[in-house]
Amino acid sequence: MWVSTSARRPFFLSFLLCLIVSLLSFILQPFQPFQSIAHRGASFYAPENTMAAFQKAVDLGFDFIEFDVQLSKDSQLVVIHDADVQRTTDGVGYIRNLTIKEIKLLDAGSWFSPEFSNERIPLLEEVLQQFGGKIGLLIEMKSSKNQPQLTKLLSDTLMKYVDNGLKPSTLKVQSFNINEIKKFHELSPTVSSGILLEKPLNILHFETYSQYASFLSVNHQLLSKSIIHQAKQYGFDIYSWTIKKQYQFLMMQRLGVNAIISDEECKESNSRLLTLIFQL
Ligand code: G3P
Ligand code: CA
Repeated sequence: MWVSTSARRPFFLSFLLCLIVSLLSFILQPFQPFQSIAHRGASFYAPENTMAAFQKAVDLGFDFIEFDVQLSKDSQLVVIHDADVQRTTDGVGYIRNLTIKEIKLLDAGSWFSPEFSNERIPLLEEVLQQFGGKIGLLIEMKSSKNQPQLTKLLSDTLMKYVDNGLKPSTLKVQSFNINEIKKFHELSPTVSSGILLEKPLNILHFETYSQYASFLSVNHQLLSKSIIHQAKQYGFDIYSWTIKKQYQFLMMQRLGVNAIISDEECKESNSRLLTLIFQL
């Protein structure tokens, strides 16, 4: 049936009005506040998991630094992401086969830029001494499958600092290894612990997880309003990782996550438009 142009005009105008109202409500909706967590330190600006990256995170005003811990051959907790040193130092070999003396000889900064050639792989204790109380510490336990003593040693080390006045609220521990998180929580119930998730979330596990984890640290691609709503029913805070683009910050804020783990800081002012374009 033929409909004249003038008869179609009201429909077009109402459609346009709806579109404008939707866009305005999107643009004007309130942002959810979130804790900012520097992934492996401010790793966009300085070599990951080094004192330089942690200091940069402090300078940028992050709330927490995230970093990874592993055990050396001589059972010291060292701060490094990979199981071996090849990618982020001038050396070779697995951390578990190297002593602290050998590890401390390695240049952990030149791979990123020559100006960081003095950076060394830090010990957990060095990070606690230099940054404990200045910025929150989110510690990821790596390799705990092969090194079960890591969890106990981490708990003992953190408790030593807590006994000396470091507030437990400035510490958080997370891992992909659920059994180790359970163990950590039993050893250090005053320190908030969380489960890292990189596969689709299964709500059937939430009840069990909630007995020992207070937050879920989730690959941002797996998050939706619905899953966050369900997780919050069980009392979890939701952290999202790893945000690398400015528009993603606002996407995460719209979802209502509690914390955002990112390589660089959120530059809110210039990302609103990017988010809008991306959503369209
Ligand atoms: O904190 C989340 C994130 O650190 C997990 O991934 O590989 O960077 O340790 P990864
Ligand atoms: Ca990590």
